[in-house]
Amino acid sequence: MTKLPAADLQLPLFTYSQRESLTEKSAWIALQEHHQYYARHYRLERLFAADDKRGENLVAEAAGIYLDYSKNLVTTETMTLLMDLARQCGLQDRIEAMFRGDRINATEQRSVLHTALRMPASQRLVVDGEDVIAQVQQVLTRMEAFADQVRNGEWTGHTGRRIRHVVNIGIGGSDLGPMMAYEALRHYGQPDLSLHFLSDVDGAAMLETVRDLPAEETLFIVCSKTFTTLETTTNAQAARQWLVRQLGEEAAVARHFVGVTTNIEEASRFGIDPQNMFGFWDWVGGRYSMTSAIGLSTMIAIGPVHFREMLAGFHAMDEHFRTAPLEENLPAILGMLTVWYTNFFGASSQAVLPYSQYLKRLPAYLQQLTMESNGKQVTLQGDAVDYQTSPVYWGDNGINGQHSFYQLLHQGTQMIPCDFIGFCQPVESLGQHHALLMANMFAQAEALAFGKNAQRVREEGTSEALAPHRVFPGNRPSNSMLVEKLTPFSLGSLVALYEHSVFTQGVIWNIDSFDQWGVELGKQLAKRTARQLLDPAEPLHHDSSTNALIRRYRNAASA
Ligand code: F6P
Repeated sequence: MTKLPAADLQLPLFTYSQRESLTEKSAWIALQEHHQYYARHYRLERLFAADDKRGENLVAEAAGIYLDYSKNLVTTETMTLLMDLARQCGLQDRIEAMFRGDRINATEQRSVLHTALRMPASQRLVVDGEDVIAQVQQVLTRMEAFADQVRNGEWTGHTGRRIRHVVNIGIGGSDLGPMMAYEALRHYGQPDLSLHFLSDVDGAAMLETVRDLPAEETLFIVCSKTFTTLETTTNAQAARQWLVRQLGEEAAVARHFVGVTTNIEEASRFGIDPQNMFGFWDWVGGRYSMTSAIGLSTMIAIGPVHFREMLAGFHAMDEHFRTAPLEENLPAILGMLTVWYTNFFGASSQAVLPYSQYLKRLPAYLQQLTMESNGKQVTLQGDAVDYQTSPVYWGDNGINGQHSFYQLLHQGTQMIPCDFIGFCQPVESLGQHHALLMANMFAQAEALAFGKNAQRVREEGTSEALAPHRVFPGNRPSNSMLVEKLTPFSLGSLVALYEHSVFTQGVIWNIDSFDQWGVELGKQLAKRTARQLLDPAEPLHHDSSTNALIRRYRNAASA
């Protein structure tokens, strides 16, 4: 395993001293034994039969989210051992370190302060001599003024027309959060304003996005933390050319382009007026940035008041995570359960199944949050881990999933822990729709947990030949999260719940959950390869497979 050279890491400000290996900790060893002798034989139907209050006992509630984790392969003893492990790994100290602004992102020497983005204006948090809350509030105030102007028509396009369309140009953390939130909170949006998202550098994405847009009524928000991401700058250039072509004047750009970035210099070079820029800071990771200025499109869509409600939801969960005992701490419980299945049962994926059309983009959002954070192979000290780290997170709208991949969840050969997410009240009520929707969520969690054995199948009159095919083994773990209603507040607390669950997992695995070196190599190679695709005279020095693919592409592209 290659270690990063110490000079690149510049570690003096915050270093992680050598830690006892995770697998040597007494709580880890106790969990291994607990798994080997007890837990791997657990059957959910027996656990429920042994304790008729299990479904009321193995629950936790905070910030508007009721978490029922009783359908997991755990007992109170398991939970105690898991929390012992969390304590032995110093989870509470690491939470404090994060909230305080210590440079816990060691490989980039950065603080990790997305929690400061949602702290109330009345608080102070001084990091490196600066009150970061004051900085956050300053930007929020500017965003609010701008969002209000766009929403009430005071901010017009170059020809004086009202803005009716907002295009967010960005990728990864500069796209997924705003897109997920726009979908989730559509009900709270302004009907005469629609948002569009352009992330892919496929020209089709650009053409399809602008095809029916009236340039005079379109505002582009170029979102890029670094302002060096090729996909985003290429799309922003194309959007700019399109706008100038449509409106006939270079001067039009000023009223139709704003930027969100930590790199004001680069954004100015691109041509965005510094007055039309909204900043944020290197202590906000891309995948943790939806509550920073990256949320400008969200704020324009739902308005500043709802945006502040969303921040309050995030903050409520932040405070819960920081202060609640681990045994009652939702993110700690969720995170430790993921550790339990990943490291002791060998589960390699985790399904996220929202029973809400509005949350259809949540799984995509969580994929970046979880896998870019915890898809790591070395510890904070740079040693190879000797245990699994992040599972693959995936999922879809629950109901749609039922008619596609749930077959595998019920009768496939892998253990895939599931997170069910549902709401007691619909945002839009329509006859019996909501009851039918939620009946399915409850039924699926029940079916996964308790299944249907061969005897019952036969009793139902199924033939011997068919019986094995109709058996549901059950014992498949799941969490059920029940929330009163999908609101900006509850969306905030739900996303913060996952952020901190990811943090908890990262602390146990002793990895840096806030860097993403793994995305670099592909980017570097793509730059070189792009030159070779654009200029057929460029020599090819790849492996024989890549060379042959490029030659075939060149031939077909020029044909
Ligand atoms: O390539 C991955 C990544 O660096 C993500 O971490 C980030 O969210 C995304 O690219 C976009 O980066 P930027 O906001 O700097 O354009």
